[in-house]
Amino acid sequence: WESNIRLPTDMKPQQPAAAGSEDDGDVGTTWALLVAGSQGFGNYRHQADICHAYQILKRGGLKDENIVVFMYDDIADNPLNPRKGVIINHPNAKDVYAGVPKDYTGEHVTAENMFAVLLGNKKAVKGGSGKVIDSKPNDRIFIYYSDHGGPGVLGMPNMPFLYGKDFVEVLKKKYESKSYKEMVIYIEACESGSVFEGLMPEDLNIYVTTASNAEESSWGTYCPGMDPAPPPEFMTCLGDLYSIAWMEDSETHNLKKETVAQQVKKVKDRTSNFNTYTAGSHVMEYGNKSIKPEKLYLYQGFDPATANLPANTLPLDIELGVVNQRDADILFLWEKYERSKEEPEEKHKILKEITETMNHRSHLDSSIELIGKLLFGLNNGPSVLRAKPSRGMPLVDDWDCLKSMVRVFEKECGTLTQYGMKHMRAFANICNKDIPQSVMQEACVAACSGHNSGLWHPSFHGYSA
Ligand SMILES: *[C@@H]1O[C@H](CO)[C@@H](O)[C@H](O)[C@H]1NC(C)=O
Repeated sequence: WESNIRLPTDMKPQQPAAAGSEDDGDVGTTWALLVAGSQGFGNYRHQADICHAYQILKRGGLKDENIVVFMYDDIADNPLNPRKGVIINHPNAKDVYAGVPKDYTGEHVTAENMFAVLLGNKKAVKGGSGKVIDSKPNDRIFIYYSDHGGPGVLGMPNMPFLYGKDFVEVLKKKYESKSYKEMVIYIEACESGSVFEGLMPEDLNIYVTTASNAEESSWGTYCPGMDPAPPPEFMTCLGDLYSIAWMEDSETHNLKKETVAQQVKKVKDRTSNFNTYTAGSHVMEYGNKSIKPEKLYLYQGFDPATANLPANTLPLDIELGVVNQRDADILFLWEKYERSKEEPEEKHKILKEITETMNHRSHLDSSIELIGKLLFGLNNGPSVLRAKPSRGMPLVDDWDCLKSMVRVFEKECGTLTQYGMKHMRAFANICNKDIPQSVMQEACVAACSGHNSGLWHPSFHGYSA
């Protein structure tokens, strides 16, 4: 009897282990960074997206110690939530909130913390669980972010916004630290392409897709009054088009067979509303596309319950009702208003909120237009502010200039808010035209003197830059 001869049945069972140990032997750990960039019940959908993503990764075998979650966490127990303690991301779906790790919530959801976490820099993290992406050279990282955005920026529930240039610099630093093998990043936000356009190198072993190109909105879905609609008691959208496209795809396929490329193709089709783009956006790709033939489980794990599902054949060809992300919060206020008919006092309060929100929006629009005219002349102003860089060029060359122009504007004219993010292009173009800060300051004073920003003065919530 040879002690080292063994029957196949005697073999040690394979370690169940983290996402992706099967086939390829030397596969490292999969890490995930999930970030919801908004707060408030009108933005329900972003945190719902993030919670849903967590559940997919968790079922896929990723461990909590390898998943870092950023969410404001004001939805589940919000007085407006018709299902207390529960969050859903689809009209007929079950709770996705239970079990989500509360790593960074409330005031700790900041761009600075997100960068520190990604870099594995425990010392730089402020508050929260202190969990960081402590990845090793052979590990893979999956990043998924959902929120509002604007040219060059992604939203954060605490100021300042996250700027494209800063994000890409952090990715370069992470690469230099040789602490991962490959990374896949999915970003849902308006104009999210502009965060990477002209900035994202191809040699960082990172593959990025964004919900929209550098110039268009991304879209909320499962909204009241749409098809399919959320359950009637909900007055807010439950999801976002690009986000639910990748997640519903992941849940209905075997991720050990499906490739990143197959998923991206599906998501592209669905997010463009099947190439009509009537309501929908262009999913964009950046970074190293050679990662695309890899199997999805390397980034999202593998749920044994999906073993018998196909690689990628299930059709998800239903067109969804959608709303432009920037109109989703007005839709929410209207729903709230409609539903408060029996309570005159409440009704009055909500109407006031709608009026003030609309007034601040038009104040932002008109003062920026006026500033453009003051700087570049009556005829040229509007076109200079709207000018778009050619394909493959970044929004602005001097990102510090962009930030300082934003601060100058907000000081005189009030905070940009998630709506006003869309005007980032105007500030970028003011920089591209080399307007000195003092000249911008004068224009802002002229356009906004006498305007009372009230609640929207940056002293309340801080500057967006
Ligand atoms: C892109 O990724 C592939 C596969 O990992 C690698 O062989 C190639 O060198 C990368 N390209 C660049 C430009 O870094």
